[in-house]
Amino acid sequence: MNILRIDSSPRRDGSVSRQLADVLQQKLEASGNKITNHRDLYYDELITLGNEDRYNGYFTPPEMQTDAQIAAVAGSNELAIEFANADAYIIAAPMYNFSVTAALKTYIDLISRAGISFNYLPEGPIGLLKNKKAYVVIATGGTPVGSEVDFVTPYLKTFLGFLGITDVTFIAADLVNVNLEEGIAKANDTISKI
Ligand SMILES: Cc1cc2nc3c(=O)[nH]c(=O)nc-3n(C[C@H](O)[C@H](O)[C@H](O)COP(=O)(O)O)c2cc1C
Repeated sequence: MNILRIDSSPRRDGSVSRQLADVLQQKLEASGNKITNHRDLYYDELITLGNEDRYNGYFTPPEMQTDAQIAAVAGSNELAIEFANADAYIIAAPMYNFSVTAALKTYIDLISRAGISFNYLPEGPIGLLKNKKAYVVIATGGTPVGSEVDFVTPYLKTFLGFLGITDVTFIAADLVNVNLEEGIAKANDTISKI
């Protein structure tokens, strides 16, 4: 499997989601899989909010796009195609204010592209990414994963499903600001069963 790893914590030292994504990565690599691409969202120049050039570029046929639109859409094209080409994903997702970080949300807005990751059919949108596997590591400080105020799990499950990715394993490292060791141990236990 060619794996795309996505880190979405702004912190590098001490990040729980990165630490556990490292453990998972080592495990998957030990069984012959490869990390072929790595996006570190807070440090990636392509992950910007964009402006009307990008928005209008999405809905303008390539031959009619302005130079500014072409430039504005290029980064999204690169990210969306890279995402579509991976066989599997490790997504390290800290919980920020009950949802994903701003950088992960921005990335999602960039990779979710009609014609690349989903299509509109007369009966509704259909995901184009089939037979993929996703691993999502969720780190939280004080919110239990699976509780009614955990919007990370249902959001990512819905989003990935929208693209056609239905085989998703969630690894919860929750309540790490309450009991760091327990949160990490629980996540390691989940990883050991993968
Ligand atoms: C801006 C901000 C918002 C946060 N919001 C929440 C939250 O809503 N619920 C929660 O349980 N923890 C929250 N936390 C704590 C983080 O989820 C926790 O520190 C986690 O370990 C972050 O992931 P990381 O260690 O990979 O950086 C927040 C932290 C920050 C900096």
